[in-house]
Amino acid sequence: MRAPWRTRTADGERASTAASLRVQNLSVDYGNIRALVDVSFELRPGEFMGVLGANGAGKSTLLKSISGLVRPAAGSIRLGDGELVGIPAHRIPATGLAHVPERRRVFPSLSVQDNLALGAYATPPDRSRAELLDEVLTLFPRLKERATQLAGSLSGGEQQMLAVGRALMLAPRLLMLDEPSLGLAPVIVEEMFDRLAAIHRELGVSILLIEQNATQALEVIERAIVLTTGEVTFTGTREELGDSEYLKRAYLGL
Ligand SMILES: Nc1ncnc2c1ncn2[C@@H]1O[C@H](COP(=O)(O)OP(=O)(O)O)[C@@H](O)[C@H]1O
Ligand SMILES: [Mg+2]
Repeated sequence: MRAPWRTRTADGERASTAASLRVQNLSVDYGNIRALVDVSFELRPGEFMGVLGANGAGKSTLLKSISGLVRPAAGSIRLGDGELVGIPAHRIPATGLAHVPERRRVFPSLSVQDNLALGAYATPPDRSRAELLDEVLTLFPRLKERATQLAGSLSGGEQQMLAVGRALMLAPRLLMLDEPSLGLAPVIVEEMFDRLAAIHRELGVSILLIEQNATQALEVIERAIVLTTGEVTFTGTREELGDSEYLKRAYLGL
């Protein structure tokens, strides 16, 4: 059985059990197209890391290969001490990895609370679902207000928050998000990033965030990799990223 996401210690402090992620020499092919070329990077336990890059760079492919949806041609992906390559996608959530895919995919004809309950299908047995639900509803008060409403009747931003909340019901050791801000109004994007920062700060979970908007991502991430046509062309801290003339030109539009 895996360790809990976090536990309350005697003095009320929370000890995180966020996982590390180590991707080594990962290559992915779609037929004759090589989508990822020898990708290597490491995310430390509890780190908030970004995956930046233009459309078509291979960002979604990277997340899909980590969560078992795409089979790599070569390479290794380790979550904590465990190898993920070769584990079928349906077994991945039980390893403590939650993936919020591109575009919010909630169950529109189910209520908000039922969507959240479905997220708990692979919650570790040592975590209380009621307690997790309470945490998610505290992070997203709007979901609490709309608990009995059908998910399909929520706004785009609320559906995205629900998709993130549902992923948190797994009590993940690593949370991966594929462009959660896509298609949302600027004010909602702000709110989404504020909530992601709160998740990182308050739950201590490791986060891997894909974002096309580097300026926006730089407000929350600690480190990032940049993918350019399937290759890692930059790895560095938020500060290094902000200082890089190349990145300013290529990705920040400055
Ligand atoms: N299922 C697929 N079959 C064939 N090619 C694909 C498939 N998915 C993605 N690709 C190609 O792989 C490359 C990387 O795509 P993707 O990972 O979606 O990039 P990003 O998320 O950075 O926009 C692109 O050239 C894309 O056209
Ligand atoms: Mg993508």
